[in-house]
Amino acid sequence: MSETRETSETPSPTSRLAARGLTLAYDDRTVVEGLDLDVPDGEVTVVVGPNACGKSTTLRALGRLLKPKHGSVLLDGAELARTPTRKIAQSIGLLPQSPVAPEAITVADLVSRGRQPHQHWWQQWSEDDERAVTDAMERTDVTELGDRPVDELSGGQRQRVWIAMALAQETDLLLLDEPTTYLDIAHQVEVLDLVRQLNHDRGRTVVMVLHDLNQAARYADHLVAMKDGRIVAQGPPDETVTADLVREVFGLESVVIPDPVTGDPLVVPGTPSIALRKATP
Ligand SMILES: Nc1ncnc2c1ncn2[C@@H]1O[C@H](COP(=O)(O)OP(=O)(O)O)[C@@H](O)[C@H]1O
Ligand SMILES: [Mg+2]
Repeated sequence: MSETRETSETPSPTSRLAARGLTLAYDDRTVVEGLDLDVPDGEVTVVVGPNACGKSTTLRALGRLLKPKHGSVLLDGAELARTPTRKIAQSIGLLPQSPVAPEAITVADLVSRGRQPHQHWWQQWSEDDERAVTDAMERTDVTELGDRPVDELSGGQRQRVWIAMALAQETDLLLLDEPTTYLDIAHQVEVLDLVRQLNHDRGRTVVMVLHDLNQAARYADHLVAMKDGRIVAQGPPDETVTADLVREVFGLESVVIPDPVTGDPLVVPGTPSIALRKATP
C-alpha cells in the first residue's frame, strides 16, 4: 500500500474536526485503518474512492454514529467520544447515505426535526427555529411539498428533503454522504451549487462523499482519495487528480484534461489508442 501523498504546499488551515489514527471495524472486520485527517475549516472537502473502500464508514465516525476501534475523532481538540451529544449536534450535521424517515412523517415535520438540538424544555419552538426551517426548505426547493408524506415522494424529492433537514440544523460542520444520489443531473448541480453557496456565504465547513470524480474535482477545495480504508492522496484537485491517481485508486486508464468550463481536472475514461468505436450504421 502506498504512502499518503500530501501535495498541498500551502500552510494547512486550522481544523475543528480531525481524525487521529482512526481505525474502524464492524465486529472483527477492520474497514478503515490508521486514518489521519484534518478537515480544513471553511472549505469543502470531498472524499472519493471505489465502492466499499470505507467512505461512508469514515463519515459516520466523523459524525459519531460509529465508535472508533482505535484512535479518535477530535472536535475542537476534544475527543468526540467525550463531547456532550448536544454540543456535537449543534456543531455537526450529518446526512447519511441511506437515511430512513419515520413512517408517515410529513416533509415539514421531518425538516423541523433538524432543529431538535437547538430546542430547550422551556421553549419548544422559537422564531429562530421557524426561520431556519423556512430558509432550508426554500433553499432546497421543497416548500411546496411541506404537507406531503415523505414516503410518497420521488427519490430525488426525498433527497432534497433530507438535505433541507441537515441545513435546518444550521451547524458549522456539514457531513453529506453522496447527497446527489437519486437526483437527475440538473438537481445534482443544484445541490452541489447550494453546498458551495452555503460554504461561500456562511463559511460552512463541508465534508461530502461523491462518487463522480469530475464533480468532486469541480466542487472540492480539498480532495481526499481513499482506497482499502486508507487515504491514498489528498490536496487541491488540480494537484491530486491525475491519470496515475485514477489508475491507482480506481484501476482505470484515463486521460485527464482541463474541464472546459472551470479549468479543473476532468477525467475522461479510456486510453486514446484503445478506445472502442461505436458500430457505424
Ligand atoms: N453496518 C455494517 N455492518 C457490516 N459491514 C459493513 C456495514 N457497513 C458497511 N460495511 C462494510 O464495510 C466496508 C466499507 O463500507 P462503506 O464505508 O459503506 O464503503 P463506501 O461508502 O466507501 O462504499 C464494506 O465492505 C461494507 O460491506
Ligand atoms: Mg458509501
